[in-house]
Amino acid sequence: MKILGIETSCDETAAAVVEDGSRIISNVVASQIDIHARYGGVVPEVASRQHLLTVIPVINQAMTEVAWQDINGIAVTFGPGLAGSLLVGVNVAKAITLAKKLPIIGVNHLEAHIYANWLKPSSQSYPFKGEETERMNCGVKFPCLCLIVSGGHSDLVLMKEHGQFEKLGRTRDDAAGEAFDKAARILGLGYPGGPAIEQAACSGTPCLPLPRAWLKESHDFSFSGLKTALWHLVHKGEVSVADAAASFQMAVSDVLVAKTIEAAKQLKVEQILLSGGVAANRTLTQLFLVNSPVPVIIPPPYLCTDNAAMVAACGYYNLQTCKISSYELDVVPSLGIG
Ligand code: KG4
Ligand code: ZN
Repeated sequence: MKILGIETSCDETAAAVVEDGSRIISNVVASQIDIHARYGGVVPEVASRQHLLTVIPVINQAMTEVAWQDINGIAVTFGPGLAGSLLVGVNVAKAITLAKKLPIIGVNHLEAHIYANWLKPSSQSYPFKGEETERMNCGVKFPCLCLIVSGGHSDLVLMKEHGQFEKLGRTRDDAAGEAFDKAARILGLGYPGGPAIEQAACSGTPCLPLPRAWLKESHDFSFSGLKTALWHLVHKGEVSVADAAASFQMAVSDVLVAKTIEAAKQLKVEQILLSGGVAANRTLTQLFLVNSPVPVIIPPPYLCTDNAAMVAACGYYNLQTCKISSYELDVVPSLGIG
C-alpha cells in the first residue's frame, strides 16, 4: 500500500511516497530556511506564500517514480503548526483526493514525528552509512516511551499501541528546539539555532556552570531558566562562544536524557523512541545510547527534522486503524497529542 504524504505545517514544504508505512520511495523537502534566516525566525505570512509557490512542484517531484493509480491514499498534516501554512497542505490534499478519488487522511504532526522511527529508507534515498545505518529501526516494540523534541514541542508520550498515545510530560515554557534557537541568538550564531549550536560546540568544552531544571515531581520540562542563565553569563563577561554553546547543549541534553530514562524505568517500557529536529543532535543521541537501560531508536537526522515521509508512515497506520478523514477536514493549529 502506497501513501503520498504532504507536510506544510511550518517552514518546510515536503511530499513523500512511502510503501506499507516504512519503505521510502521518494522524499522531497523544500526548505525555506534561507528565506526566514534573514529575519532570525519563521515569518508566518512569508511561510504560507512560499508553500503556495512550492507545494505543487514538490508533489510532482515526489511522484516522478510512482503512477497515481498506485497511490492508495493521501496523508496530510492538519496540526499543530502555523494556520496559513497548514491550510495550503490541507487544501491541496483535498483537491487531489477529490480529483483522484482517494481517501484523505489527516495526520497529527507530533504523531508523524514519532512514526519517523518506522521508516526504512530505500538504498537510493539513504545517504548515510555506518553508524547511521545501525541507528535505524530495529523493530519497534510496545509499550514504548516517545520523546518528541522539536521547535514547538518537548513532549514525553507513552505509546501503548499504534495510534494510542498518553502524554506524560510537556514543556512548561520553551520547547527544546526553541531554546536552542534562542540560545543561538544570544550567542550571535545563525538560524536555525540547533545545528549552529552543535557546530559551535565542536570546538568548545561544556565547562560553564549552567542550571538544570529537574522538576522532580513531574515528567515536565523547563528550559527558560537555562536560557536566561546563558544570557547573564554571556553579558557578564568574557566567555568563549564555543564553550557557551557546548555547555548549553550539555545542559539541555542532560535533562532530556535523565528525565526520559527515569520515566522509562518507572513505566517499564520496552524501548525509547526519539523524534523531532533536536533528536538530530549528536550529543543528545550519544548520551541516550550510553545511558539508557533499554534500546533507543533514533531516526537519521534528515528524518528527525520536518519531512513528509513521516506523515505518509503515520497516515498508513491511521488508515489501518480506520482513521480516515472527510472533506470537512480543517486545520487545528494548536493540536496536541495524547
Ligand atoms: O522537528 P522540526 O524540524 O520542526 C518542528 O516541528 O518544530 O524541529 C526544528 C527544531 C529547531 O528548533 C532546530 O533548531 C532544532 O529542531 N534542531 C536541532 C538540530 N537540528 C535541528 N537542535 C539541536 N541540534 C540539532 N542538530
Ligand atoms: Zn516538526
